[in-house]
Amino acid sequence: MARQNIAETVKPCPRLEGEVILPGDKSISHRAAIFNSLAWGKAEISNFAPGKDCLVTVSCLRALGVEIRRGGSQNCPTLLVSGTGKDGLKDMVMLKEPANVLNAENSGTTMRLLSGLLSSQPFLSIITGDASLRSRPMGRLIEPLRRMGAEIFGRGKDSFAPLVIRGRKLHGMEFSLPVPSAQIKSAILLAGLFAQGKTILYQPIPSRDHTERLFKHMGAELKSAGNLISLSPLINPLAAMSFRIPGDISSAAYFLIAGAIHPNARIVIKDCGINPTRTGIIDVLLAMGAKLKMENERMEVGEPLADIIVESSELKGVEIGGDIIPRLIDEIPVLAVAGCVARGKTGIRGAGELRVKESDRIATVSRELSRLGAKIEPLPDGMVIHGGKPLLGAEVDSHLDHRLAMSLAVAGLIAKGGTTINHAQVVQVSYPAFWQDLQNLAD
Ligand code: S3P
Repeated sequence: MARQNIAETVKPCPRLEGEVILPGDKSISHRAAIFNSLAWGKAEISNFAPGKDCLVTVSCLRALGVEIRRGGSQNCPTLLVSGTGKDGLKDMVMLKEPANVLNAENSGTTMRLLSGLLSSQPFLSIITGDASLRSRPMGRLIEPLRRMGAEIFGRGKDSFAPLVIRGRKLHGMEFSLPVPSAQIKSAILLAGLFAQGKTILYQPIPSRDHTERLFKHMGAELKSAGNLISLSPLINPLAAMSFRIPGDISSAAYFLIAGAIHPNARIVIKDCGINPTRTGIIDVLLAMGAKLKMENERMEVGEPLADIIVESSELKGVEIGGDIIPRLIDEIPVLAVAGCVARGKTGIRGAGELRVKESDRIATVSRELSRLGAKIEPLPDGMVIHGGKPLLGAEVDSHLDHRLAMSLAVAGLIAKGGTTINHAQVVQVSYPAFWQDLQNLAD
């Protein structure tokens, strides 16, 4: 994301009302594009996430020789993926050596998932990212892949990108994940598809399971029970899977909290993914006293969906920690906004992973919300928010972190005066229509 500054100003509005059509889920979109690239057959993926992160995955896959066409509209793209898989084990690996360095830009999911896959492909790949991604930890990726036989190297004694990968034949392994990271889990599982022998993973706390669900749907032999996952290498290519990506609950989070904290609001959020590994935000909001309900619950291609309706609520502070953290890790910046408004204290603990996201979210969330008058104590692994203090509009900065930009916008809805968010263009990473969708609710 270029360092140009496009600012947006948010002001309180008398009423927040309407329906939100969410962008497609970012995590599922990355997986749908990558797995279908390996599959046998063509897939049409609708409501593909329109943000830069997922488009970067598409560019990398094209650079690896996959034919992908884009249709649909700008905010609701459709992807037509021609899978490279062919019948018969011998020809199963069909990606091509990229002619240049792959660039994952701001997207950790792109870098980590593709690294797992590329470790098994018989050619050299180099993958880099923007300044933020190049400062995020990659040792946690390199170490398990090497145990599977991968030749993968990184800058700073194998700690950071750019990563250099010389693909080779891998072997399955039994491994206990040291961090509850779905990106690392998925990288290992992608490597395991083309390895010799089974891959068995133990997760300390289950993280989002979109990879497991989609692998099963596309014909991989994967079993998961509790904290254990067992994957057999492919003997036939994955089967192409056309489907509609559910709405992104991480994007819904901004409206769930906007609706709950605004004094005069009713928002209907359509077709939202409610995979239980992602719904920590709903559990916490209900515990805080939010008025929200789900309607029209259903399953599509192994993923549950619903419409969610939220109304103005009186929130109270809660303690958030333990196994719920991976189920709401991306929603903590906006949950902090809810904590500022809630009566009493909200504690967030066991969330040290926030320090290695697109920004150090413990530092940036505390700093920027404090500029609006919030009382927040940062902790090494979380924060304590003393709620109930009125917020006052001010100038704040996104730190080029999309989730921080959108969380500050939600705070701006209830902060007296105007809140100007610098580097607001960063919402492009996951939700290009965010400013427009927010405006529509306020009009
Ligand atoms: C993601 C996993 C999470 C999450 C990220 C998306 C994924 O990261 O924060 O936004 O799609 O697998 P970690 O795996 O690093 O926890």
